[in-house]
Amino acid sequence: MLRTHTCGELRLAHVGQTVSLCGWVQRTRDKGSLLWIDLRDRYGITQLLVETTDAPKELAEAVRQLGREFVVQITGKVAERQSKNPKLPTGDIEIKIEQVTVLNPAKLPPFLIEDETDGGDDLRMKYRYLDLRRNPVRQNLELRHKMAKAVRDYMDSQGFLEVETPVLIKSTPEGARDFVVPSRIHEGEFYALPQSPQTFKQLLMVSGFDRYFQIVKCFRDEDLRADRQPEFTQIDCEMSFVQQEDILNMFEGLVRHLFKAVKNIDLPALPRMTFDYAMENYGSDKPDIRFDMKFKYLNDLAKGKGFQVFDAAETVVGIVAEGCAEYTRKQLDELTEFVKRPQIGAKGLVYVQCKADGTFKSSVDKFFDAAALKSWADAMGAKAGDLLLILSGETHKARKQLNELRLEMGNRLGLRKKDEYSAHWVIDFALLEFDEESNRFHAMHHPFTSPKPEDLHKLSSTDHATLSSIRANAYDMVINGVEVGGGSIRIHDRTVQSQMFKLLGFSEEEAKAQFGFLLDAFEYGAPPHGGLAFGFDRLCSLFGGSDSIRDFIAFPKNNAGKDVMIDSPSPISQEQLKELHIGVVKK
Ligand code: AMO
Repeated sequence: MLRTHTCGELRLAHVGQTVSLCGWVQRTRDKGSLLWIDLRDRYGITQLLVETTDAPKELAEAVRQLGREFVVQITGKVAERQSKNPKLPTGDIEIKIEQVTVLNPAKLPPFLIEDETDGGDDLRMKYRYLDLRRNPVRQNLELRHKMAKAVRDYMDSQGFLEVETPVLIKSTPEGARDFVVPSRIHEGEFYALPQSPQTFKQLLMVSGFDRYFQIVKCFRDEDLRADRQPEFTQIDCEMSFVQQEDILNMFEGLVRHLFKAVKNIDLPALPRMTFDYAMENYGSDKPDIRFDMKFKYLNDLAKGKGFQVFDAAETVVGIVAEGCAEYTRKQLDELTEFVKRPQIGAKGLVYVQCKADGTFKSSVDKFFDAAALKSWADAMGAKAGDLLLILSGETHKARKQLNELRLEMGNRLGLRKKDEYSAHWVIDFALLEFDEESNRFHAMHHPFTSPKPEDLHKLSSTDHATLSSIRANAYDMVINGVEVGGGSIRIHDRTVQSQMFKLLGFSEEEAKAQFGFLLDAFEYGAPPHGGLAFGFDRLCSLFGGSDSIRDFIAFPKNNAGKDVMIDSPSPISQEQLKELHIGVVKK
């Protein structure tokens, strides 16, 4: 070993010992008679010292030559510091250098390797290996490791086997586009990278594995967002001989174990709400319930009173922003602009200020008198000092828009604290979703999800309303407004699965070509089974108090889906293309 200790290890108890450390030069200070170096490694920082009056000239000279980020090995004696640094775990000691060896010099890094760096996003992504030297980034990966270990501990304790599934497969429909890999040997044929190991884990149940999990890379060619990467990691799980209740309990157990093991938080039992309830009260299937601010409907009180906008609307719905009655004109304009942004798309915002003196001021004073406004405030449970924010329009759209406004108000009022956690299940999702554009039904979760037994008979209906009303045994786990996981009880009956494919617009031949292996497997003794998958990167970022999963991935892609460090994706040679039969016209 080139070192006896790490840079985070030495304490007063080591004083007098001769030690060797290796690491990177964080910074040097030259006071003439005293030279200091801060030496850094993964474990911490240790202060090194040369007293130039006592030390050999060559040693002082060698230390003076050290630049930032040089990799060095030093040997010296541990001494108690004159002025201690209580902020550093090693702050009571320093090392009097006796020997220094440069293991590798370094070019000046393009940004400061400090907790607060001067490097912009692009630069840090290009030199990600340097960014990873910084404490906050390294700590995120340490957290990720801890989480993965806690997951494996829990799953092992519950009898789950970790089984690896292949990466070169064929399309698994999870709603995104596939990344594909051309085959050299089989001209004109392609592998697809898994959007998830969904079909394989179901086959493992047919094989009798009973309890499977895998911390596994998944690949989806979809638009990037802060909580989406083209390659990301799932904690993928499946169980046999279970009902929805068993799965909810098992994985509630996992998440509570993670909170306890990693953050020492006792997470209360997870409340459950139906999809319909979530949409009606929060306008979202992943509501942030760290704060209340539920939707209140004003159809009965606000429609038919001559205000054209409300009269023409299917729904008039609002929220109460507590204590915001004194918002200024500017603040109210900001909120109006917020909901009118193209991404949100509201036409306007109606507000009512419930003043402390019992009067009301609103943007619709011309249409509604004080008594009417008071009736709204009463119906919405508002008190003097509160602000009502109201949107109207087509129900689905108005709800979605109000969801954005609710979250914005949550942010403005500081109700979405990063260190507070609120986890819950959303259950009873619809099985099917009608897509106007393609004029057909899509699976809301995926095509392997089972309808609730009481709705099974509706599968053979041709009536849209009947089909839309089918509920699935499907569930999502939501923490702080983030969908951290989702799954379902699966279909394990060949006939039902074929019926489902048909509903989703697959011809019998197409279903056979794409999923024949699964349909066949269902004829060889498939047990009832179900499972779910967590977004592991999302769980890590939540635990780390960040909105971006990128910070918790060692080498992530940037917002444009590129790895700018290795320059990928990038063109390949004509020769390689030819080998892969791409761009070659077949005679
Ligand atoms: P689903 O598609 O809901 O289900 O994915 C499960 C969880 O994976 C996370 N996730 C992502 N995280 C980062 N980047 C992405 N692009 C991304 N896409 C999804 C989410 C999500 O809740 N096979 C099913 C699971 C099952 O039915 O068992 C599936 O993949 O946190």
